[in-house]
Amino acid sequence: MAPEQSGRELSLAVIPGDGIGPELVESALTVLRAVAQRHGITLDVREEPAGAEHYRRTGRAVDPGALDRLAAADGVLKGPVGLPDVRRPDGTEAGLLGGVLRTGLDTFANIRPVRLLPGVRSATRHEPGDIDYVLVRENTEGLYASRGAGVVARDAAADQLLVTRTGTRRVVRHAFELARGRAAGRREARPQVTCVDKSNVLRSFALFRSVFDEVAAGYPDVTAGHLYADAAAHELVARPERFDVLVMENFLGDILSDLAAATVGGLGMCGSANIGERAAYFEPIHGSAPSLAGQGLANPTSQLLSLVLLLEHTGHDAAAAAVRTAVERAYADGAIELTATGSPAAGTASVTAAVLDRL
Ligand code: IPM
Ligand code: MN
Repeated sequence: MAPEQSGRELSLAVIPGDGIGPELVESALTVLRAVAQRHGITLDVREEPAGAEHYRRTGRAVDPGALDRLAAADGVLKGPVGLPDVRRPDGTEAGLLGGVLRTGLDTFANIRPVRLLPGVRSATRHEPGDIDYVLVRENTEGLYASRGAGVVARDAAADQLLVTRTGTRRVVRHAFELARGRAAGRREARPQVTCVDKSNVLRSFALFRSVFDEVAAGYPDVTAGHLYADAAAHELVARPERFDVLVMENFLGDILSDLAAATVGGLGMCGSANIGERAAYFEPIHGSAPSLAGQGLANPTSQLLSLVLLLEHTGHDAAAAAVRTAVERAYADGAIELTATGSPAAGTASVTAAVLDRL
């Protein structure tokens, strides 16, 4: 059978990252090379060193010009970064790229799909089909806008939570468009977006909710709902089947996406996309797990599913579907078994091999 897309190119910037990052990225690149060959995609892969180890060596988390190089690539695949012993003089971790890349590239929408795959046991005893939603995390403001900027005295410290009309509008719109897109491939059930906030307590969240309501009015075909964040935490565990797309402030999205991951087999099962107007990058939602590094024990599924999102975003839909299906089959066939902590029982390479076998 002839490849359906031939002669296409994909220029890729790759940030291997720290800890388990390089192992995960290697797994994803191995799968990418195989799928690219089958689908007639010519790869141009360039490495961009960045993160905590890079900071330790050079005194900077990214090299000069890095943001421009990342924005110029068709796609950016990033491994997790950070090492607990690499710190700035103020005690905060150095080389965490969240602030540098999310703000620097203005990737305002952090897309975190949460889906329970057949063959994976959920900590909440749900069945595949019960858990299939997308958490959209605002990525450039909220509480983390205060990063490095809070007020610190000897015995007190304060950070502020920033919500802007423009920032909220663009991420909420993105969530509604995403919900429409998901519904297009589905027979029953209207698209649905849930606004998650604490507007009952904080005025910043009240603004977030009122902007959400304004945007929602422009999408009469999409059901708009609200949940307070504490209730949302409960519902994500108790009744995940009720969700389609959720949109929320940065800090809430950080916390609730880890909670969500626990319901679908752990952090190692969750990839993500950071999307902006002029750039996008793709990474696992978890950290660099230094204690697991270099042992071939980490689950590369989060990185593989990040690769799927990258391929979809760059228009390589057939290649994306091939990788996604191969990952799903590997779990459904029982070729990958996860330990209680979410590590693949037979190691990182066994996951890569199981996916390659099924491409
Ligand atoms: C995430 C991570 C990052 C964040 C860390 C590593 C800075 O936890 O992507 O969720 O807090 O955003
Ligand atoms: Mn996080």
